[in-house]
Amino acid sequence: MPRGLFITLEGGEGAGKSTNLAFIHQWLQRAGHAVVVTREPGGTELGERVRDILLHSRELHITPETEMLLMFAARAEHLAKVIRPALAAGKAVLCDRFTDATYAYQGGGRGLPAERIASMETRVQGDLRPDLTLLLDLPVEAGRERAGQRGAPDRFERENNEFFSRVRETYLARARAEPARMRIIDASRPLEQVERQITATLEEFVRDR
Ligand SMILES: Nc1ncnc2c1ncn2[C@@H]1O[C@H](COP(=O)(O)OP(=O)(O)OP(=O)(O)O)[C@@H](O)[C@H]1O
Ligand SMILES: [Mg+2]
Repeated sequence: MPRGLFITLEGGEGAGKSTNLAFIHQWLQRAGHAVVVTREPGGTELGERVRDILLHSRELHITPETEMLLMFAARAEHLAKVIRPALAAGKAVLCDRFTDATYAYQGGGRGLPAERIASMETRVQGDLRPDLTLLLDLPVEAGRERAGQRGAPDRFERENNEFFSRVRETYLARARAEPARMRIIDASRPLEQVERQITATLEEFVRDR
């Protein structure tokens, strides 16, 4: 059996990843795919506990290196228990954030060298990479305004605008470096126009495969 599609959603805070997940899920189902929807950090029981530490344990003063390693520890579990089995069964996996987020946040945001992240990526993932990544891009201020309406900020949401500018620029640089895999969606537009861009991108992706 050919392995299923591996699609990831990326972007800064409030870009609309979670909002568009259901829309993409539906699109994939209509195209005939069985779909597993998941997220990072998280997606497994251990992963969700690690997520809780990463998002809510300010008092632990986690170092950037530890933060990166925790992301990959959760990812190893997620790959072993959810992602690889689903792909092997021919299912499409739709994941809210994946390794591009580690490059953007722990690399761009926290300043860890990309090579350190790349070496963990190879160790944990082997040669598995997403087939398609949708980067929901919008100006930092606009994303923060959207996310800000959701209540108490988490450990990442407390960072300043320079941090989020570095996150955004890192994401965009990665998209420019890998244009076939990583497609930029203008997430500053009204939701209906974002959905239209996503549909066009998905149609082009399946046509070209
Ligand atoms: N295109 C859009 N136009 C206006 N508001 C939007 C749009 N897309 C999403 N929103 C709103 O912005 C807020 C943040 O969206 P969402 O939670 O999907 O972002 P996210 O990328 O998942 O954020 P996070 O990284 O923090 O999880 C929500 O209130 C959502 O309804
Ligand atoms: Mg979200």
